[in-house]
Amino acid sequence: PETGCLSIIVLGASGDLAKKKTFPALFNLYRQGFLQSNEVHIFGYSRTKLSNDELRDRIRGFLPQGKELTNDVSDFLQLIIYVSGSYDAPEGFQELDKAISEHEVSKNSTEGSSRRLFYLALPPSVYPQVCKMIKSYCMNKSDLGGWTRIVVEKPFGKDLASAEELSSQIGELFDEPQIYRIDHYLGKELVQNLLVLRFANRFFLPLWNRDNIANVQIVFREDFGTEGRGGYFDQYGIIRDIIQNHLLQVLCLVAMEKPVSLKPEHIRDEKVKVLQSVVPIKDEEVVLGQYQGYKDDPTVPNDSNTPTFATVILRIHNERWEGVPFILKAGKALNSRKAEIRVQFKDVPGDIFKCQKQGRNEFVIRLQPSEAIYMKLTVKQPGLEMSVVQSELDLSYRQRYQGVVIPEAYERLILDTIKGDQQHFVRRDELKAAWEIFTPLLHRIDQGEFKSLPYKPGSRGPVEADELLERAGYVQTHGY
Ligand code: BG6
Repeated sequence: PETGCLSIIVLGASGDLAKKKTFPALFNLYRQGFLQSNEVHIFGYSRTKLSNDELRDRIRGFLPQGKELTNDVSDFLQLIIYVSGSYDAPEGFQELDKAISEHEVSKNSTEGSSRRLFYLALPPSVYPQVCKMIKSYCMNKSDLGGWTRIVVEKPFGKDLASAEELSSQIGELFDEPQIYRIDHYLGKELVQNLLVLRFANRFFLPLWNRDNIANVQIVFREDFGTEGRGGYFDQYGIIRDIIQNHLLQVLCLVAMEKPVSLKPEHIRDEKVKVLQSVVPIKDEEVVLGQYQGYKDDPTVPNDSNTPTFATVILRIHNERWEGVPFILKAGKALNSRKAEIRVQFKDVPGDIFKCQKQGRNEFVIRLQPSEAIYMKLTVKQPGLEMSVVQSELDLSYRQRYQGVVIPEAYERLILDTIKGDQQHFVRRDELKAAWEIFTPLLHRIDQGEFKSLPYKPGSRGPVEADELLERAGYVQTHGY
Protein backbone atom coordinates (compact mmCIF):
# COMPACT_ATOMS: atom_id res chain seq x y z
CA PRO A 1 0.00 0.00 0.00
CA GLU A 2 1.05 3.54 -0.65
CA THR A 3 2.24 5.52 2.29
CA GLY A 4 2.97 9.17 2.78
CA CYS A 5 0.85 12.06 3.55
CA LEU A 6 -2.76 12.02 2.38
CA SER A 7 -4.82 15.18 2.01
CA ILE A 8 -8.52 14.81 1.32
CA ILE A 9 -10.02 18.05 0.15
CA VAL A 10 -13.80 18.30 0.16
CA LEU A 11 -14.91 21.15 -2.09
CA GLY A 12 -18.43 22.28 -1.32
CA ALA A 13 -17.80 21.37 2.32
CA SER A 14 -20.78 23.24 3.70
CA GLY A 15 -23.23 21.73 1.20
CA ASP A 16 -25.70 18.88 1.54
CA LEU A 17 -23.80 16.10 -0.20
CA ALA A 18 -20.68 16.76 1.87
CA LYS A 19 -22.53 16.81 5.17
CA LYS A 20 -24.81 13.87 4.48
CA LYS A 21 -22.51 11.55 2.57
CA THR A 22 -18.88 12.59 2.24
CA PHE A 23 -17.94 13.45 5.82
CA PRO A 24 -19.88 10.54 7.39
CA ALA A 25 -18.14 8.17 4.94
CA LEU A 26 -14.76 9.66 5.85
CA PHE A 27 -15.60 9.26 9.52
CA ASN A 28 -16.42 5.58 9.06
CA LEU A 29 -13.16 5.03 7.22
CA TYR A 30 -11.34 6.82 10.01
CA ARG A 31 -13.00 4.67 12.67
CA GLN A 32 -12.03 1.51 10.88
CA GLY A 33 -8.41 2.60 10.71
CA PHE A 34 -8.24 3.35 7.00
CA LEU A 35 -7.36 6.97 7.59
CA GLN A 36 -4.47 7.25 10.02
CA SER A 37 -4.23 10.53 11.86
CA ASN A 38 -0.45 10.59 11.46
CA GLU A 39 -0.88 10.62 7.67
CA VAL A 40 -4.19 12.26 6.91
CA HIS A 41 -5.66 15.70 6.94
CA ILE A 42 -9.07 16.61 5.66
CA PHE A 43 -9.68 20.03 4.20
CA GLY A 44 -13.07 21.60 3.73
CA TYR A 45 -13.42 24.33 1.12
CA SER A 46 -16.43 26.41 0.22
CA ARG A 47 -17.57 30.00 -0.19
CA THR A 48 -19.20 30.42 3.21
CA LYS A 49 -17.02 32.14 5.79
CA LEU A 50 -16.64 29.75 8.71
CA SER A 51 -14.08 28.97 11.36
CA ASN A 52 -12.69 25.44 11.70
CA ASP A 53 -14.91 24.90 14.72
CA GLU A 54 -18.02 26.17 13.00
CA LEU A 55 -17.54 23.70 10.15
CA ARG A 56 -16.78 20.90 12.61
CA ASP A 57 -19.99 21.68 14.51
CA ARG A 58 -22.01 21.55 11.32
CA ILE A 59 -20.54 18.18 10.41
CA ARG A 60 -20.93 16.73 13.92
CA GLY A 61 -24.72 16.56 13.59
CA PHE A 62 -24.42 14.22 10.60
CA LEU A 63 -21.99 11.77 12.19
CA PRO A 64 -23.19 8.71 14.07
CA GLN A 65 -24.15 9.46 17.67
CA GLY A 66 -23.50 7.44 20.78
CA LYS A 67 -21.41 7.72 23.91
CA GLU A 68 -18.90 5.14 22.76
CA LEU A 69 -18.23 7.23 19.66
CA THR A 70 -17.67 10.60 21.33
CA ASN A 71 -13.89 10.34 21.39
CA ASP A 72 -13.64 9.08 17.83
CA VAL A 73 -15.91 11.86 16.64
CA SER A 74 -13.83 14.57 18.32
CA ASP A 75 -10.55 13.09 17.11
CA PHE A 76 -11.92 12.88 13.60
CA LEU A 77 -13.23 16.44 13.63
CA GLN A 78 -9.82 17.68 14.74
CA LEU A 79 -8.43 16.42 11.43
CA ILE A 80 -10.62 18.85 9.52
CA ILE A 81 -9.29 22.23 8.49
CA TYR A 82 -11.47 24.78 6.78
CA VAL A 83 -10.51 27.22 4.05
CA SER A 84 -13.03 29.53 2.46
CA GLY A 85 -12.83 31.00 -1.01
CA SER A 86 -14.64 31.33 -4.27
CA TYR A 87 -14.66 28.66 -6.97
CA ASP A 88 -13.39 30.83 -9.77
CA ALA A 89 -10.66 33.04 -8.34
CA PRO A 90 -7.06 32.06 -7.60
CA GLU A 91 -6.77 33.51 -4.07
CA GLY A 92 -8.82 30.88 -2.28
CA PHE A 93 -7.07 28.03 -4.09
CA GLN A 94 -3.66 29.51 -3.37
CA GLU A 95 -4.59 29.63 0.28
CA LEU A 96 -5.88 26.07 0.10
CA ASP A 97 -2.61 24.94 -1.47
CA LYS A 98 -0.67 26.67 1.28
CA ALA A 99 -2.70 24.90 3.95
CA ILE A 100 -2.21 21.51 2.26
CA SER A 101 1.51 22.10 1.78
CA GLU A 102 1.98 23.04 5.43
CA HIS A 103 0.30 19.84 6.42
CA GLU A 104 2.50 17.87 4.02
CA VAL A 105 5.65 19.43 5.40
CA SER A 106 4.60 18.66 8.94
CA LYS A 107 3.71 15.03 8.17
CA ASN A 108 6.34 14.19 5.63
CA SER A 109 9.44 14.15 7.72
CA THR A 110 10.32 10.62 6.57
CA GLU A 111 8.29 9.70 3.51
CA GLY A 112 7.97 12.62 1.21
CA SER A 113 5.38 11.52 -1.33
CA SER A 114 2.07 13.28 -1.06
CA ARG A 115 -1.36 12.28 -2.15
CA ARG A 116 -4.08 14.80 -2.85
CA LEU A 117 -7.64 13.70 -3.30
CA PHE A 118 -10.07 16.41 -4.37
CA TYR A 119 -13.71 15.52 -3.78
CA LEU A 120 -16.01 17.83 -5.72
CA ALA A 121 -19.22 17.87 -3.70
CA LEU A 122 -20.41 20.64 -6.03
CA PRO A 123 -22.82 21.19 -8.88
CA PRO A 124 -21.25 20.04 -12.17
CA SER A 125 -21.66 23.53 -13.64
CA VAL A 126 -18.60 24.60 -11.65
CA TYR A 127 -16.49 21.46 -12.32
CA PRO A 128 -14.53 22.97 -15.24
CA GLN A 129 -13.54 26.13 -13.41
CA VAL A 130 -12.75 24.29 -10.17
CA CYS A 131 -10.65 21.74 -12.06
CA LYS A 132 -8.79 24.60 -13.72
CA MET A 133 -8.03 26.14 -10.34
CA ILE A 134 -6.86 22.82 -8.91
CA LYS A 135 -4.66 22.23 -11.91
CA SER A 136 -3.15 25.73 -11.71
CA TYR A 137 -2.65 26.02 -7.98
CA CYS A 138 -3.18 22.83 -6.01
CA MET A 139 -1.45 19.91 -7.70
CA ASN A 140 0.82 17.59 -5.77
CA LYS A 141 4.29 19.00 -6.23
CA SER A 142 6.33 16.44 -4.38
CA ASP A 143 9.41 15.20 -6.25
CA LEU A 144 9.11 11.96 -4.39
CA GLY A 145 5.95 10.75 -6.04
CA GLY A 146 2.34 10.63 -4.97
CA TRP A 147 -0.65 11.75 -6.97
CA THR A 148 -3.56 14.15 -7.46
CA ARG A 149 -7.02 12.63 -8.02
CA ILE A 150 -10.41 14.20 -8.64
CA VAL A 151 -13.74 12.71 -7.58
CA VAL A 152 -16.87 13.95 -9.35
CA GLU A 153 -20.47 12.90 -9.28
CA LYS A 154 -23.48 13.13 -11.58
CA PRO A 155 -25.27 14.81 -13.20
CA PHE A 156 -22.56 14.68 -15.84
CA GLY A 157 -24.40 16.87 -18.29
CA LYS A 158 -28.00 16.69 -19.46
CA ASP A 159 -27.50 14.85 -22.74
CA LEU A 160 -24.79 13.47 -24.97
CA ALA A 161 -23.53 16.84 -26.20
CA SER A 162 -23.35 18.54 -22.80
CA ALA A 163 -21.79 15.46 -21.20
CA GLU A 164 -19.14 15.27 -23.90
CA GLU A 165 -18.40 18.94 -23.49
CA LEU A 166 -17.95 18.51 -19.74
CA SER A 167 -15.78 15.44 -20.30
CA SER A 168 -13.52 17.30 -22.72
CA GLN A 169 -13.19 20.29 -20.43
CA ILE A 170 -12.10 18.08 -17.54
CA GLY A 171 -10.17 15.77 -19.87
CA GLU A 172 -7.96 18.66 -21.02
CA LEU A 173 -6.84 19.16 -17.44
CA PHE A 174 -6.65 15.65 -16.03
CA ASP A 175 -5.91 12.22 -17.44
CA GLU A 176 -8.53 9.50 -17.20
CA PRO A 177 -6.66 7.60 -14.42
CA GLN A 178 -6.92 10.75 -12.28
CA ILE A 179 -10.69 11.14 -12.70
CA TYR A 180 -13.07 9.14 -10.52
CA ARG A 181 -16.69 9.47 -11.67
CA ILE A 182 -18.89 8.19 -8.88
CA ASP A 183 -22.07 6.29 -9.49
CA HIS A 184 -22.84 5.32 -5.94
CA TYR A 185 -24.83 2.26 -7.04
CA LEU A 186 -21.50 0.70 -7.98
CA GLY A 187 -20.51 0.93 -4.32
CA LYS A 188 -23.49 -1.07 -3.07
CA GLU A 189 -22.72 -4.48 -1.62
CA LEU A 190 -25.06 -6.47 -3.83
CA VAL A 191 -24.13 -4.63 -6.97
CA GLN A 192 -20.53 -5.59 -6.27
CA ASN A 193 -21.66 -9.15 -5.72
CA LEU A 194 -23.03 -9.42 -9.26
CA LEU A 195 -19.66 -10.19 -10.75
CA VAL A 196 -19.03 -12.98 -8.24
CA LEU A 197 -22.51 -14.44 -8.52
CA ARG A 198 -22.40 -14.56 -12.26
CA PHE A 199 -18.88 -15.74 -12.88
CA ALA A 200 -18.05 -17.84 -9.84
CA ASN A 201 -21.11 -20.11 -9.89
CA ARG A 202 -21.49 -22.99 -12.26
CA PHE A 203 -25.32 -22.84 -12.03
CA PHE A 204 -25.60 -19.56 -13.78
CA LEU A 205 -23.10 -19.99 -16.57
CA PRO A 206 -25.25 -22.15 -18.87
CA LEU A 207 -28.55 -20.51 -17.97
CA TRP A 208 -27.68 -16.86 -18.29
CA ASN A 209 -28.88 -16.24 -21.84
CA ARG A 210 -31.80 -15.82 -24.22
CA ASP A 211 -32.49 -19.55 -24.33
CA ASN A 212 -33.49 -19.60 -20.67
CA ILE A 213 -34.25 -16.09 -19.52
CA ALA A 214 -37.60 -14.55 -20.44
CA ASN A 215 -37.00 -11.03 -19.13
CA VAL A 216 -34.95 -9.01 -16.68
CA GLN A 217 -36.32 -6.24 -14.50
CA ILE A 218 -34.18 -3.67 -12.76
CA VAL A 219 -36.35 -1.70 -10.44
CA PHE A 220 -35.90 1.33 -8.21
CA ARG A 221 -38.76 2.58 -6.07
CA GLU A 222 -38.89 5.29 -3.46
CA ASP A 223 -41.81 5.89 -1.14
CA PHE A 224 -41.15 9.61 -0.93
CA GLY A 225 -41.31 12.38 -3.51
CA THR A 226 -38.85 15.07 -4.48
CA GLU A 227 -39.38 16.95 -1.22
CA GLY A 228 -37.01 19.84 -0.90
CA ARG A 229 -35.30 19.28 -4.24
CA GLY A 230 -38.14 19.72 -6.72
CA GLY A 231 -36.46 22.67 -8.42
CA TYR A 232 -33.33 20.63 -9.10
CA PHE A 233 -35.19 17.47 -9.97
CA ASP A 234 -37.49 19.21 -12.43
CA GLN A 235 -34.56 20.03 -14.70
CA TYR A 236 -33.52 16.39 -14.83
CA GLY A 237 -36.39 13.97 -14.26
CA ILE A 238 -36.24 10.32 -13.23
CA ILE A 239 -34.46 9.05 -16.35
CA ARG A 240 -31.45 11.31 -15.83
CA ASP A 241 -31.62 11.01 -12.05
CA ILE A 242 -31.79 7.22 -11.74
CA ILE A 243 -32.18 5.23 -14.96
CA GLN A 244 -29.46 6.55 -17.27
CA ASN A 245 -26.86 6.07 -14.54
CA HIS A 246 -27.70 3.80 -11.60
CA LEU A 247 -29.97 1.29 -13.34
CA LEU A 248 -27.96 1.23 -16.52
CA GLN A 249 -24.79 0.46 -14.56
CA VAL A 250 -26.60 -2.46 -12.93
CA LEU A 251 -27.80 -3.63 -16.35
CA CYS A 252 -24.20 -3.68 -17.57
CA LEU A 253 -23.14 -5.97 -14.76
CA VAL A 254 -26.11 -8.27 -15.33
CA ALA A 255 -25.63 -8.48 -19.08
CA MET A 256 -21.90 -8.22 -19.76
CA GLU A 257 -19.67 -11.03 -20.92
CA LYS A 258 -17.00 -12.46 -18.64
CA PRO A 259 -14.09 -10.03 -18.46
CA VAL A 260 -10.61 -11.28 -19.29
CA SER A 261 -9.59 -10.61 -15.69
CA LEU A 262 -10.67 -8.54 -12.72
CA LYS A 263 -8.57 -5.60 -13.86
CA PRO A 264 -10.71 -2.46 -13.87
CA GLU A 265 -10.04 -1.86 -17.56
CA HIS A 266 -11.09 -5.37 -18.52
CA ILE A 267 -14.36 -5.05 -16.60
CA ARG A 268 -15.12 -1.63 -17.99
CA ASP A 269 -14.34 -2.81 -21.53
CA GLU A 270 -17.09 -5.41 -21.20
CA LYS A 271 -19.57 -2.90 -19.78
CA VAL A 272 -19.01 -0.55 -22.70
CA LYS A 273 -19.71 -3.36 -25.16
CA VAL A 274 -23.10 -3.98 -23.56
CA LEU A 275 -24.02 -0.30 -23.77
CA GLN A 276 -22.94 -0.14 -27.38
CA SER A 277 -25.16 -3.14 -28.19
CA VAL A 278 -28.35 -1.50 -26.94
CA VAL A 279 -30.67 -0.68 -29.85
CA PRO A 280 -32.73 2.54 -30.07
CA ILE A 281 -35.62 2.67 -27.61
CA LYS A 282 -39.08 2.23 -29.14
CA ASP A 283 -41.84 4.71 -28.26
CA GLU A 284 -44.26 1.94 -27.39
CA GLU A 285 -41.77 0.57 -24.85
CA VAL A 286 -41.77 3.69 -22.70
CA VAL A 287 -44.26 4.75 -20.02
CA LEU A 288 -43.74 7.98 -18.12
CA GLY A 289 -45.56 9.16 -15.03
CA GLN A 290 -45.70 12.12 -12.68
CA TYR A 291 -47.17 11.81 -9.20
CA GLN A 292 -50.08 14.01 -8.30
CA GLY A 293 -48.95 16.81 -6.03
CA TYR A 294 -45.45 17.04 -7.56
CA LYS A 295 -46.27 20.46 -8.99
CA ASP A 296 -47.42 21.78 -5.61
CA ASP A 297 -43.75 22.35 -4.86
CA PRO A 298 -43.32 26.11 -5.44
CA THR A 299 -39.96 25.50 -7.13
CA VAL A 300 -41.58 23.28 -9.78
CA PRO A 301 -43.23 25.05 -12.76
CA ASN A 302 -47.02 24.63 -12.93
CA ASP A 303 -46.89 23.14 -16.40
CA SER A 304 -44.06 20.70 -15.71
CA ASN A 305 -44.21 17.43 -17.65
CA THR A 306 -41.04 16.10 -15.97
CA PRO A 307 -41.38 12.38 -15.26
CA THR A 308 -41.02 11.24 -11.66
CA PHE A 309 -41.68 7.68 -12.86
CA ALA A 310 -40.55 5.80 -15.93
CA THR A 311 -40.55 2.31 -17.30
CA VAL A 312 -38.29 1.86 -20.28
CA ILE A 313 -37.46 -1.36 -22.08
CA LEU A 314 -33.96 -1.76 -23.42
CA ARG A 315 -33.01 -4.42 -25.93
CA ILE A 316 -29.50 -5.70 -26.34
CA HIS A 317 -28.59 -6.78 -29.82
CA ASN A 318 -26.10 -9.57 -29.30
CA GLU A 319 -25.88 -13.32 -29.32
CA ARG A 320 -26.63 -13.72 -25.63
CA TRP A 321 -29.56 -11.35 -25.25
CA GLU A 322 -31.38 -10.91 -28.57
CA GLY A 323 -35.12 -10.90 -27.81
CA VAL A 324 -34.84 -10.55 -24.02
CA PRO A 325 -36.43 -7.35 -22.70
CA PHE A 326 -34.48 -5.53 -20.00
CA ILE A 327 -37.15 -3.58 -18.18
CA LEU A 328 -35.81 -0.58 -16.30
CA LYS A 329 -38.28 0.94 -13.92
CA ALA A 330 -37.84 3.81 -11.48
CA GLY A 331 -40.23 5.99 -9.57
CA LYS A 332 -40.61 8.46 -6.75
CA ALA A 333 -43.56 8.62 -4.35
CA LEU A 334 -44.52 4.98 -4.89
CA ASN A 335 -45.88 2.42 -2.45
CA SER A 336 -42.52 1.13 -1.19
CA ARG A 337 -38.78 1.77 -1.10
CA LYS A 338 -36.94 -0.98 -2.88
CA ALA A 339 -34.22 -1.61 -5.43
CA GLU A 340 -33.97 -5.05 -6.98
CA ILE A 341 -32.96 -7.09 -9.99
CA ARG A 342 -35.47 -9.72 -11.03
CA VAL A 343 -34.42 -12.29 -13.60
CA GLN A 344 -37.40 -14.26 -14.82
CA PHE A 345 -36.82 -17.61 -16.49
CA LYS A 346 -38.88 -19.11 -19.28
CA ASP A 347 -41.55 -21.72 -18.66
CA VAL A 348 -40.50 -25.36 -18.34
CA PRO A 349 -41.07 -27.00 -21.73
CA GLY A 350 -43.45 -29.96 -21.67
CA ASP A 351 -44.61 -29.05 -18.18
CA ILE A 352 -46.40 -31.96 -16.47
CA PHE A 353 -47.21 -30.14 -13.23
CA LYS A 354 -49.03 -27.13 -14.61
CA CYS A 355 -46.30 -25.05 -12.93
CA GLN A 356 -47.19 -22.01 -14.93
CA LYS A 357 -50.18 -21.51 -12.70
CA GLN A 358 -47.77 -21.09 -9.83
CA GLY A 359 -45.40 -18.84 -11.66
CA ARG A 360 -41.97 -19.04 -13.14
CA ASN A 361 -38.52 -19.49 -11.72
CA GLU A 362 -37.07 -16.18 -10.73
CA PHE A 363 -33.70 -15.16 -9.46
CA VAL A 364 -33.93 -12.01 -7.38
CA ILE A 365 -31.18 -9.79 -6.03
CA ARG A 366 -32.51 -7.22 -3.61
CA LEU A 367 -30.08 -4.35 -3.36
CA GLN A 368 -32.02 -2.56 -0.64
CA PRO A 369 -33.50 -2.47 1.90
CA SER A 370 -32.59 -5.75 3.64
CA GLU A 371 -30.10 -7.10 1.13
CA ALA A 372 -31.03 -10.56 -0.12
CA ILE A 373 -30.51 -13.01 -2.92
CA TYR A 374 -33.27 -15.50 -3.48
CA MET A 375 -34.50 -17.94 -6.03
CA LYS A 376 -38.14 -18.65 -6.55
CA LEU A 377 -38.76 -22.22 -7.47
CA THR A 378 -41.54 -24.73 -7.66
CA VAL A 379 -41.57 -27.53 -5.07
CA LYS A 380 -43.98 -30.15 -3.89
CA GLN A 381 -46.40 -28.84 -1.35
CA PRO A 382 -45.58 -30.78 1.85
CA GLY A 383 -48.33 -33.25 2.68
CA LEU A 384 -50.17 -36.24 1.34
CA GLU A 385 -51.30 -34.67 -1.86
CA MET A 386 -49.14 -34.28 -4.92
CA SER A 387 -49.53 -30.60 -5.52
CA VAL A 388 -46.95 -27.99 -6.30
CA VAL A 389 -46.25 -24.62 -4.78
CA GLN A 390 -43.82 -21.74 -5.19
CA SER A 391 -41.12 -21.45 -2.56
CA GLU A 392 -37.69 -19.85 -2.21
CA LEU A 393 -34.07 -20.61 -1.65
CA ASP A 394 -33.30 -17.56 0.37
CA LEU A 395 -30.04 -15.88 1.28
CA SER A 396 -31.09 -12.98 3.46
CA TYR A 397 -28.05 -11.07 4.54
CA ARG A 398 -29.47 -10.06 7.88
CA GLN A 399 -29.90 -13.69 8.87
CA ARG A 400 -26.89 -15.20 7.19
CA TYR A 401 -24.37 -12.49 8.07
CA GLN A 402 -25.63 -11.47 11.48
CA GLY A 403 -23.56 -8.72 13.01
CA VAL A 404 -21.67 -8.01 9.80
CA VAL A 405 -21.82 -4.33 8.98
CA ILE A 406 -22.40 -3.67 5.31
CA PRO A 407 -20.36 -0.62 4.32
CA GLU A 408 -21.99 2.43 2.84
CA ALA A 409 -21.40 2.89 -0.89
CA TYR A 410 -19.53 6.17 -0.42
CA GLU A 411 -17.18 4.67 2.14
CA ARG A 412 -16.10 1.98 -0.25
CA LEU A 413 -15.77 4.31 -3.20
CA ILE A 414 -13.63 6.85 -1.34
CA LEU A 415 -11.39 4.03 -0.17
CA ASP A 416 -11.08 2.79 -3.76
CA THR A 417 -10.08 6.28 -4.83
CA ILE A 418 -7.33 6.34 -2.22
CA LYS A 419 -6.16 2.91 -3.40
CA GLY A 420 -6.34 3.95 -7.05
CA ASP A 421 -8.82 1.24 -8.03
CA GLN A 422 -11.14 2.51 -10.77
CA GLN A 423 -13.18 -0.66 -11.20
CA HIS A 424 -16.28 0.80 -9.57
CA PHE A 425 -16.12 4.15 -11.34
CA VAL A 426 -17.57 5.16 -14.68
CA ARG A 427 -15.09 5.54 -17.52
CA ARG A 428 -15.50 8.33 -20.04
CA ASP A 429 -16.50 6.03 -22.91
CA GLU A 430 -19.07 4.30 -20.67
CA LEU A 431 -20.61 7.63 -19.85
CA LYS A 432 -20.76 8.55 -23.51
CA ALA A 433 -22.38 5.24 -24.46
CA ALA A 434 -24.92 5.63 -21.65
CA TRP A 435 -25.92 9.07 -22.92
CA GLU A 436 -26.14 7.78 -26.47
CA ILE A 437 -28.85 5.36 -25.40
CA PHE A 438 -31.08 7.89 -23.69
CA THR A 439 -30.44 11.20 -25.44
CA PRO A 440 -32.94 10.80 -28.31
CA LEU A 441 -35.72 9.85 -25.87
CA LEU A 442 -34.78 12.63 -23.44
CA HIS A 443 -34.82 15.25 -26.19
CA ARG A 444 -38.27 14.17 -27.23
CA ILE A 445 -39.51 14.25 -23.65
CA ASP A 446 -38.03 17.74 -23.24
CA GLN A 447 -39.85 18.82 -26.39
CA GLY A 448 -43.13 17.63 -24.93
CA GLU A 449 -43.57 14.69 -27.28
CA PHE A 450 -44.21 12.23 -24.44
CA LYS A 451 -46.78 12.87 -21.79
CA SER A 452 -46.16 11.93 -18.18
CA LEU A 453 -49.27 10.11 -16.95
CA PRO A 454 -50.56 11.12 -13.53
CA TYR A 455 -50.38 8.62 -10.68
CA LYS A 456 -51.37 8.73 -7.04
CA PRO A 457 -48.57 9.13 -4.51
CA GLY A 458 -48.23 5.85 -2.63
CA SER A 459 -49.42 3.78 -5.61
CA ARG A 460 -47.57 1.40 -7.94
CA GLY A 461 -47.30 4.13 -10.58
CA PRO A 462 -49.42 4.37 -13.75
CA VAL A 463 -51.28 1.14 -14.64
CA GLU A 464 -49.95 1.55 -18.17
CA ALA A 465 -46.54 0.54 -16.81
CA ASP A 466 -47.91 -2.79 -15.56
CA GLU A 467 -49.55 -3.31 -18.92
CA LEU A 468 -46.24 -2.67 -20.64
CA LEU A 469 -44.60 -5.27 -18.40
CA GLU A 470 -47.23 -7.80 -19.35
CA ARG A 471 -46.77 -7.05 -23.02
CA ALA A 472 -43.05 -7.58 -22.56
CA GLY A 473 -43.82 -11.07 -21.30
CA TYR A 474 -43.41 -10.62 -17.58
CA VAL A 475 -45.54 -13.09 -15.66
CA GLN A 476 -46.56 -12.11 -12.15
CA THR A 477 -45.57 -14.87 -9.74
CA HIS A 478 -47.27 -15.77 -6.51
CA GLY A 479 -45.95 -16.67 -3.15
CA TYR A 480 -43.03 -14.76 -1.77
C1 BG6 B 1 -29.48 9.72 -6.13
C2 BG6 B 1 -30.67 10.41 -6.72
O1 BG6 B 1 -28.47 9.56 -7.09
O2 BG6 B 1 -29.86 8.45 -5.65
C3 BG6 B 1 -31.79 10.53 -5.71
O3 BG6 B 1 -30.28 11.70 -7.17
C4 BG6 B 1 -32.10 9.19 -5.09
O4 BG6 B 1 -32.95 11.06 -6.32
C5 BG6 B 1 -30.83 8.50 -4.62
O5 BG6 B 1 -32.98 9.41 -4.01
C6 BG6 B 1 -31.12 7.07 -4.20
O6 BG6 B 1 -30.00 6.49 -3.63
P1 BG6 B 1 -30.15 5.23 -2.67
O7 BG6 B 1 -28.75 4.85 -2.35
O8 BG6 B 1 -30.94 5.69 -1.47
O9 BG6 B 1 -30.90 4.20 -3.43
